[in-house]
Amino acid sequence: MNTSVKITVLVDTESFDENLAKEHGFSAWIETEGRHILFDTGQTGGMLENAKRLGIDLKKADTLVLSHGHFDHTGQIPQFLELNDKAEIYCCYDLGITRYSCKIGTDPRSIGMPEASREALSTISQSRIHEIGTPRYLTNRVGMTGPVPRHSMFEDTGGPFFLDDHRKVDDLIEDDQSMWFETDKGLLILLGCCHAGLVNTVEYIKAISGIDKIHGIIGGMHLVNADEKRLQYTFDSMKSWNPDILVPCHCTGQVPVARMIEAIGSDIVTWGCSGYTVEA
Ligand SMILES: [Fe+2]
Ligand SMILES: [Fe+2]
Repeated sequence: MNTSVKITVLVDTESFDENLAKEHGFSAWIETEGRHILFDTGQTGGMLENAKRLGIDLKKADTLVLSHGHFDHTGQIPQFLELNDKAEIYCCYDLGITRYSCKIGTDPRSIGMPEASREALSTISQSRIHEIGTPRYLTNRVGMTGPVPRHSMFEDTGGPFFLDDHRKVDDLIEDDQSMWFETDKGLLILLGCCHAGLVNTVEYIKAISGIDKIHGIIGGMHLVNADEKRLQYTFDSMKSWNPDILVPCHCTGQVPVARMIEAIGSDIVTWGCSGYTVEA
């Protein structure tokens, strides 16, 4: 008997409900096997606002999983930790490093975890923080990838990401991780930004779990800067996975989502948004 799971997008870059906030960020709430898991915290507080409106009690979270150390996923860590003094925290190594986005023609932007979030994490009992370097199961059927090996020739981190503000050292965002749920309908995969690449991530999860059937994929796919080759490679891979649902959120990008709908079909691809729920 596999697990059943309900995932609610707490905050996303898009909202189709005027009662639910949107912001450039991502956070999701997971209910499965009596567990309550917060996945990322968004950027500016939409997560807290929407949780109230959706009747979700963040105090109940027993676990916080952080997908990677970008500001739009780690911005509300202090607020969450103020509410919740028990959740165990799972992230990859190097979550808190200084990192930049350096677009040519614009000033470098510091896009790492905000200082307040670093501080908040440093003041709680360090035994609550679990840095993982390999895949880890939270329950028998719920896993976190840890760092994802990068095999695909067509996928990169998806942006002008650097460890310095002079474009000298690439930020490979090695701390990027995703989650998966082994349900009766197949794998349900939850992404933060998926800087490791969607195909790298999905193929890794298939290999770890030993499950080929993909029920669904939800979260940020970071295709916003993808070239034609990468888009085609991604869509061809999606077709081969034959998923029941694809829910691109956050940083997937408007044009790539429109192209995905064209390539895969509107019966399978749905725009993600604040408040979107999937149950499997
Ligand atoms: Fe993001
Ligand atoms: Fe990101």
